[in-house]
Amino acid sequence: MYVCICNGYRESEIEQTARASGLNCPVAVYQVLGSGPCCGTCLPMAQDIINNASNVSKTLRDLEPLPLAAE
Ligand code: FES
Repeated sequence: MYVCICNGYRESEIEQTARASGLNCPVAVYQVLGSGPCCGTCLPMAQDIINNASNVSKTLRDLEPLPLAAE
């Protein structure tokens, strides 16, 4: 799904870039993708996507490794 019509950024690109870069600001994520926002209409949705991506990453990072079965 396209989130940013001005730049043609899709939800998956924004999510993957946020996860890979660790950035949590849509403007910074857009700059990594190649250009900044134009009209800004997409920024609230992009922020939600980034927040969800960072919550998932944080949750996965915070998981303790499962103990191995006793041999
Ligand atoms: S829709 Fe993203 S800057 Fe306009």
